[in-house]
Amino acid sequence: MTSTTDQAFGVYVHWPFCLSKCPYCDFNSHVRHAAVDEPRFLRGFEAEIASTAARTPSRTVTSVFLGGGTPSLMQPATVGGILDAIGRHWTVAPDAEVTLEANPTSVEATRFRGYRSAGVNRVSLGVQALDDGVLKELGRLHTAQEALDAVAVARAIFDRYSFDLIYARPRQTPQAWSEELRRAIAEAAEHLSLYQLTIEPETPFAALHAAGRLAVPDDDTARALYDLTQDICARSGLPAYEVSNHARPGAECRHNLVYWRAHEYAGIGPGAHGRLDIDGRRRATMAEKRPEAWLMRVETLGHGLVTDEPLTRDEHADEFLLMGLRLAEGIDPARYAALAGRPLDPARIESLAALGFVERDATGCLRVTPAGFPVLDAVVADLAA
Ligand SMILES: C[S@@+](CC[C@H](N)C(=O)[O-])C[C@H]1O[C@@H](n2cnc3c(N)ncnc32)[C@H](O)[C@@H]1O
Ligand code: SF4
Repeated sequence: MTSTTDQAFGVYVHWPFCLSKCPYCDFNSHVRHAAVDEPRFLRGFEAEIASTAARTPSRTVTSVFLGGGTPSLMQPATVGGILDAIGRHWTVAPDAEVTLEANPTSVEATRFRGYRSAGVNRVSLGVQALDDGVLKELGRLHTAQEALDAVAVARAIFDRYSFDLIYARPRQTPQAWSEELRRAIAEAAEHLSLYQLTIEPETPFAALHAAGRLAVPDDDTARALYDLTQDICARSGLPAYEVSNHARPGAECRHNLVYWRAHEYAGIGPGAHGRLDIDGRRRATMAEKRPEAWLMRVETLGHGLVTDEPLTRDEHADEFLLMGLRLAEGIDPARYAALAGRPLDPARIESLAALGFVERDATGCLRVTPAGFPVLDAVVADLAA
């Protein structure tokens, strides 16, 4: 078991509301036609921060991520209240990364300065596409110009920002994507998240897809789009450090590294997941997803958890493998062996290496090669078997 004191510790806070529901999205996000009672939610967050911190004393918070949903719908005072509560109940590292996920509309951009005063030092914007027709098809409430304007506001206010694009969209050609990606890179500073469109079950896109009314690129085109993405980003100084995330070296999102390096993190708010080391065991926590039901739970119990279970050694080791192999840096096989109580099977590593899917670096870390990333799920399944 790794120590809990010498590691990164992240706090994730989930804001579960959006102005409208995008037809591709299956995140825990809800649309409310009446005003959301932010002071009441803030009290709920404060209570859950207090109860989680009581279980995880003496941690130093190295990153906070306000995700959603659309956290940029929160008033800066609400964000300030959440960050103050985190600072009251845990020690926060002086250089902690504090990210807020924002939708790139002009209204939301007007709040960026207030977020910075509240303690946010990085924003992640959901730009999604730089084409107005596509943005409409994706159900977005902003135009490409509005998104670029929001990126410019972020650039003026924050030292660090990132934005997301979705690719492998209906009818998207490698030529069109390469032009769009180059435009995006010209606007990016140090970090970009580039997600291939996933048709999530039970979304409007899934229904359209099933009805033959939404055609996504075939496997060969999707692979060409992926290869192009890796190539253009690497040449532009933004190599992939994780399957969908690109950064200048040193500018990786530290909070997301907490997940992929299988460190500890607290999950605060409706539907948030956490991984906490308590009494020498890794525990998996998950809060009630429905916002109002979460509020009622937290108001009566002091926390909104509906799951709070220890992981077995194998589950913990498998998570470490699954998350760590998403990273270009790979994993330390010795940490796997310490978690699982047995090493990875050398014969399996050898046969995957012979296929060119994994390799060892000079320090002994095991990592997936560029040829292995497109078949990552199969590589992980083989190693974990
Ligand atoms: C939880 S969302 C929150 C971001 C913010 N609410 C917004 O939409 O701008 C984080 C990111 O996940 C990505 N995403 C969500 N659903 C997706 C899907 N079905 N396929 C690919 N990417 C998706 C989008 O790029 C989105 O910006
Ligand atoms: S993509 Fe973002 S704005 Fe759209 S529904 Fe999901 S969380 Fe909300």
